[in-house]
Amino acid sequence: MNLTETQRAMASGDEGEAVAAAMTVLIEYGEIMGAERLIPISSAAGANIYGPRHSRPLGSDDPARLFAQYSLNTDAALDAPPVRVPSCQLIGPIDRENAGDVQNMPPEAIAKVAESSDYLDGLGVSLLSTCTPYQVGFLPRFGEHVAWMESSAVVFINSVIGARTNTEGRESAAASMLTGLTPEAGLHLDAPRRATVRIVVDTEIPATFGWNAFGYWIGSAVEDRVPVLDGVQAAPDFVQLKQFGAAAASSGDVELFHLPGVTAECTSVEQVITDDAEVLTFGAAELAWAIDRLNATRTGDDVDFVMIGCPHASYEQLQQVAALLDGRRVDDGTALWIFTPDALRRRARDEGLLALIESSGARILSDTCPAIAQFLPRGTRRFATDSAKQAHYLPAIMGIEGAFATTADCVQAALTGRLP
Ligand code: F3S
Repeated sequence: MNLTETQRAMASGDEGEAVAAAMTVLIEYGEIMGAERLIPISSAAGANIYGPRHSRPLGSDDPARLFAQYSLNTDAALDAPPVRVPSCQLIGPIDRENAGDVQNMPPEAIAKVAESSDYLDGLGVSLLSTCTPYQVGFLPRFGEHVAWMESSAVVFINSVIGARTNTEGRESAAASMLTGLTPEAGLHLDAPRRATVRIVVDTEIPATFGWNAFGYWIGSAVEDRVPVLDGVQAAPDFVQLKQFGAAAASSGDVELFHLPGVTAECTSVEQVITDDAEVLTFGAAELAWAIDRLNATRTGDDVDFVMIGCPHASYEQLQQVAALLDGRRVDDGTALWIFTPDALRRRARDEGLLALIESSGARILSDTCPAIAQFLPRGTRRFATDSAKQAHYLPAIMGIEGAFATTADCVQAALTGRLP
């Protein structure tokens, strides 16, 4: 690793032990990645809020100690300096408004998470607490190098915006926050951004439901390669791009995809494809396969829980749910939870949309999600979702049955307790 003089001084402790620990993380990570140098970044996004699950094994609930241990990989209690680049917290362990009533967390545990959040806030990290910071004003520009965690956000900003990031881990994202640096490797370089698989689309993609399923199939088919989509008839909208990328990053490790005329770096298939690219076809059979797989654990149509908002819902998705509810009440035996960034929840509150939705008995939740924080409405045995990513993860994480359905069918299931 060729470090500049300034970087060598940072690694030697001239800017304090925390920066030196962060440099150790980045140098070791960079060497594994085959990077020759560290490059400046314009933003970082990570997940560094801790609670009882982390403090118990450490035997300490000192936020500085927790940050040093879990974010910088060091036993020493370090005094971390303010972050060096614009930085945000992605998803966290609790909903700042509803941890007690919805997540059933005891007040002491909520207080510990709040201490950790305050510590991060003190470092200058924006507590956006969403997997979609790009929906609430925290987004890079085309060509910028950044260091972001969260696979659904990574694939979105790489593909749709044309920023450059690898899928960072907790430690490397925190180290990038404190140093403003990341290893120059992987998707920061030109060559790994070229498509090595051409996906010939040979079927109509049925709206957002179809883009979720398509993403799920593509992740299974290409794993960690970069696909270019060829033959898409109707360009996906913002929500469809968000859902597609998240699904592809959950069934596979897709961090970047190209779609001519839609994604940032691609005007034609020829512009982005490698000479020896594999060609795969996505047709009606592949679409059906994905829908079947996403319903693999489902043995019936009754549902106890409906989850919408993975990745966190856009404002338009909240409006869509309100329209589908149409003033009706959610079934007594079924919970409807919609997850959205806290900034959009506050907008929904200001504009009356939150009251409209919650008057049905549904809840609008933020800052976390059932898969990450591992919580469900009491007694859930089978849930329905319009997200391929959540349908993929939640049955495995929580041991429940999952049904993948359209948003309209999910809302209908919430109203009646049964999928149409
Ligand atoms: Fe976000 Fe949780 Fe889905 S972090 S992408 S809502 S699994």
